[in-house]
Amino acid sequence: MSFNIIKHPLIIDKLTRMRKVETSSKDFRENLNEIGQLMVYEIFRDVPVKEIDINTPVIKTKGYTIDIPVVLIPIIRAGLGMTEGIQRLVPTARIAHIGLYRNEETLEPVQYYAKKTKNIDKSYVIVVDPMLATGGSASKAIEIAKSWGAKQIKFVCLVSVQEGVDKLQREHPDVDVYTASLDPVLNDDGFIVPGLGDAGDRIFGTK
Ligand code: PRP
Repeated sequence: MSFNIIKHPLIIDKLTRMRKVETSSKDFRENLNEIGQLMVYEIFRDVPVKEIDINTPVIKTKGYTIDIPVVLIPIIRAGLGMTEGIQRLVPTARIAHIGLYRNEETLEPVQYYAKKTKNIDKSYVIVVDPMLATGGSASKAIEIAKSWGAKQIKFVCLVSVQEGVDKLQREHPDVDVYTASLDPVLNDDGFIVPGLGDAGDRIFGTK
């Protein structure tokens, strides 16, 4: 597994805006989608392309096209808030959905929804969730994606902590992980510190 922290002035500026407690839901969502777009630029660096013949207004020439179907899998709810930005750059991507919530006592993920896309076994699959805390949700979502036949999987999140990264490394060593920040601490309530609070609640204004 490769673990990649995508550091860029535009990303750390937007992430800092998102961390601030006074940031509105609207600004939180906008910055999250924009960071998703910036991160996908890096994540797609190794996506296969094939050469094609094209005609410009001037001459016949060679061009390139992405040579593999792309599937995005947001973990509902918070993953939805990052997916639109990614989809803007990859408009042909299909979207599968996995609904998970953390049991507040045990912090174990509970599945309540899953809808796959076709040809997922032949696709470049990106599982999306802004938060990698204990890693339970990400690991479960990747397990579900694998049970659907997914083979080339990447996981993208906004903030992460070492516990979650270690869990993914143990349970899914074949999956590359991309994050904008490795935060220092996971507290006893399972919150990333300093983090940005509960991303789902901030995206949807539920608290
Ligand atoms: C949050 C977050 C991740 C998960 C991360 O979701 O969006 O899905 O917790 O924690 P973990 O790494 O310890 O599993 P939550 O359960 O709050 O559901 P929500 O997205 O519906 O708010």
